[in-house]
Order: sequence, then structure tokens, then C-alpha cells
Amino acid sequence: MMLGDKIKIPFFDASAGYASNREEIDGAIKSVLENGAYINGPEVGVFAERLANYLNVDYAVPCANGTDALCLALMAIGLKRGDEVIVPTFNFIAAAEAVAYLGLVPIFADVDAISFNICAKSIEEKITSQTKAIIVVHLFGSAASMEDIMKLANQHQIPVIEDVAQSLGGEYAGKKLGTFGAIGCTSFFPTKNLACFGDGGAIFTNDEKLALKVKMLANHGQQQKYVHQYIGVNSRLDTLQAAVLLCQLKMLDYSIEKRRTLAKRYANGLGNLPILLPKETTEIKHTYNQYCIQLADFRQRDDLKKYLLDQGISTMIYYSQPNHLQEAFTSFGYKTGDFLVAEQLCNKVLALPVFPALSFEHQDYIIEHIKSFFEHA
Ligand SMILES: Cc1ncc(COP(=O)(O)O)c(C=O)c1O
Repeated sequence: MMLGDKIKIPFFDASAGYASNREEIDGAIKSVLENGAYINGPEVGVFAERLANYLNVDYAVPCANGTDALCLALMAIGLKRGDEVIVPTFNFIAAAEAVAYLGLVPIFADVDAISFNICAKSIEEKITSQTKAIIVVHLFGSAASMEDIMKLANQHQIPVIEDVAQSLGGEYAGKKLGTFGAIGCTSFFPTKNLACFGDGGAIFTNDEKLALKVKMLANHGQQQKYVHQYIGVNSRLDTLQAAVLLCQLKMLDYSIEKRRTLAKRYANGLGNLPILLPKETTEIKHTYNQYCIQLADFRQRDDLKKYLLDQGISTMIYYSQPNHLQEAFTSFGYKTGDFLVAEQLCNKVLALPVFPALSFEHQDYIIEHIKSFFEHA
């Protein structure tokens, strides 16, 4: 493909996962449709077991989506109104939203300028006697520094909830992300490493009591039908989605390797340009759910985004605004300048296409056009 050729490259191809495994998925869906156990069917339990095995934890509990997983985790560890929960401000809204939704207080923390992730130092600055939980979000497929964070959390005896919605399958020091703290939470939204064909989520833990409580909370607070021990919610994973996820789970490591290969090719192709590329340290196995580069400032970022779009290449900005400046959190009293790293990242980041079905040919086209942008800058 030559620079003059015009093609369209989507940011993500949601149907590619189905196309690559059509027969098995069709069979799994048909079997659920015929069986009729649409709620809490056997596939849900089997999927929970296989996910727990994959993560090497004792329990996994599926639920309706990743935001619910965070809510259920917060509910299960028994926080009360007004308790403070530390969350990264450079993030999708879900973690802070779950905290605020439950009447808890989101205490935002800044992130590391290179890894995009919350770090022990930024958490330590925010710990008070009211801090009752820390939510660590492993962003873009990478990992926060869990050794330092767990040391700090253990010192202060504060439970850690890990959000691996963007990094399922990733590792820190050889251990799967989401398995360091009290509870791990994830999403199976179609763009995630492990994706279903709609909404889905799960929590995982080694704590039997927490697992049972989440399972009950996600099913109206009941273990036995019509005997309600807790005020819970309806947040069950559909049997159909569990059946799809059982097929997709088999492909998870393969699709992570595809993402990692694409990331290596970006690093080789873009390495000499004046942009900051995602970093992978020796402790971290990055899963490249997103490939976020950093430009000099918002003008250059926006110019490159437009230039690429003119060439048929879609990109995304994750995230254009930090959570502490979102209108939804106005009542918590944060202002511009409170978290400089996060605010600057929002001006500089640009996510390039990195989904498993992206062809090398299309990726080369993206790389060549990014190079040509800088040649003409
Ligand atoms: C880091 C992170 N946490 C949580 C969520 C929420 O997941 P869901 O969309 O399944 O509610 C998302 C987005 O999907 C996310 O990116």
C-alpha cells in the first residue's frame, strides 16, 4: 500500500472477534437459546470457574458490567456513607462514579506521567483517617506499581480494589493483575481484552466471604430464592454472554499476543519521532488494550488527529478531561490546577488503532502517515 492510496481504518472492529470464531460462538449461542436457561444458566458458573482458573484465584463472580463490578466490590467490603475512597483522576469515569453513586467520597489522586497510572506516592499524599479503600486502575493494558502500592496499603490497612477492565491478562512481577488486592474488577465491554457481545463484568478474589457476598449482592442480596440477607441489586451476567465469553476466553492469550506484536511494530516504526510511546518495564506484561502516544501539546495532538482522519485513520482521545474537572463531580470542589499531570496528559494523549484484527498492512499505513505528518510539520 502506498502513501497516496486512501483507505479507511477504524479505531476498533467490534465484530472481528465473532468473525474469527464464528462456528464455535454460533454453537454456544444456539445451545443457550435451545436450553432456555437465560438467567443464571450453567454457562455462567462454568465461565466463573474458568475465569478464576485463568487468573489463578479462588473465586470469580460474573455480573452485568464493569461499573457494577466496582459498585459490588465497594458494597461488599462494607463501606459507609461519607467514607473516602482514593481513585485516579486520569481514568474513565466508572471508578469515581461508583464511589459517588454509593454516597462515598471520591478522593482523586494524580497519576504518573509516563505510565498513566496511579502510584504509591500519589496515593500516600491523599491518605487520611477517613480513607477506607483505594481503587487502583491498571490503565490502557499496563500495570500500576503493585509492590509499592500494596506495601503502602498494608501499612495503613486499607483494602485495595483493582480495576482491570483495560488490562485483563496483564501481569506485574509474573502475577496476574487484579489479584493483588482484596478484590479485582473487570468489564467485558466489546473493546476490552476479553469481550462479550454487549455488557458484562466480573469480580475476582481469594476471599470466600467477599465472593459469596458479591454473588448475593448481585442477585438481590439473596443466596436462597426469596430469602434476602442484603439490600442488593440485579446485576447478573446473561447466560448468552457467558456462553460467548467461554469461547472468547480460549482466545484471550492469543489476542493479547497480537496486541503485543502490534505494539512492538509501533515502537519500531515510531521510535525515532518526537513523541512519547507507551513504556513497558521488566516487571510489567502490558496487554496494550490501548496504544496511547503523547504529543508535545494539544495543538500538535489535535493536528495529528485531524491529519490522520483525513487519511482515513480513526484515533481516539483517552481522556480529554480528568475526572476531577468533570461537571458530575463539581460538588466535591476540585478545580483546574489540582492535578497537573492528569490535566497535561489530557492535552497530549492520542490512542492509535491496536485491535487484534488490525492487519500489518494497515498498521504500516498508519505508521507511514504519522511519519509523514512530522516530516511536513
Ligand atoms: C478502566 C475501566 N473501568 C471500568 C469500566 C466500566 O466498564 P463497563 O462499561 O462494563 O461498565 C471501563 C469501561 O468500559 C473502564 O475502561
